[in-house]
Amino acid sequence: MSNKARVVVLISGSGSNLQALIDGVQSGELPINLAAVISNRPDVFGLERATKANIPTELLDHKTFTDRESFDRALMEKIDSYQPDLVVLAGFMRILTPEFTQHYLGRMLNIHPSLLPKFQGLHTHQRAIDAGESHHGVTVHFVTAELDGGPAVVQARVPVLANDDASILAKRVQRQEHVIYPLAVKWFAQGDLHMIDGKSVLKGEPLPASGFLISSDEP
Ligand code: GRF
Repeated sequence: MSNKARVVVLISGSGSNLQALIDGVQSGELPINLAAVISNRPDVFGLERATKANIPTELLDHKTFTDRESFDRALMEKIDSYQPDLVVLAGFMRILTPEFTQHYLGRMLNIHPSLLPKFQGLHTHQRAIDAGESHHGVTVHFVTAELDGGPAVVQARVPVLANDDASILAKRVQRQEHVIYPLAVKWFAQGDLHMIDGKSVLKGEPLPASGFLISSDEP
């Protein structure tokens, strides 16, 4: 147990990506120790998922802080009390201060529902449909000071179909999220994935700008 990578997961909502990590641990596929789950919002379903899996939970409500800097500092203290090797942002809906991103540089991952660098920010599924994209998808990337801008680790591509609305497309993308996030976390935990000179490096080889690419034509 103690030689497994310690992972702290930050959430703000439903926690389906957290669940994919929990499932990976429980099936023996994912050799990590889920040290804690921290939410910035009370009463979210992700906290229930963590409790059910016997993972320590913490709530740090951003609304009780006067500014972003003091919240991020308190969050860092909380995270560091669990001595994580990796911090995983799983639907954590906060803009992070440069001090925070610098502190975890090379040891913090995020998942963003688009084929980055396309569609940074919010409402990505609707924006992909409105732009007439033939494909859309999801990216796991290292977190840097640039919002949704750090080096990509892995991307999954899915088709955009004629009758898609944002929620149908989001579901198609989410199925891939639950595949690629555990994969990226596993690479990191096994010591195969690093961020070196601002690039993602997998098993000693720099990854292309899109990261490792997975395609799914599954509707
Ligand atoms: C996911 O769509 C993820 O890509 C985005 O936020 C959502 C989180 O969903 N960053 P969940 O809380 O993991 O279900």
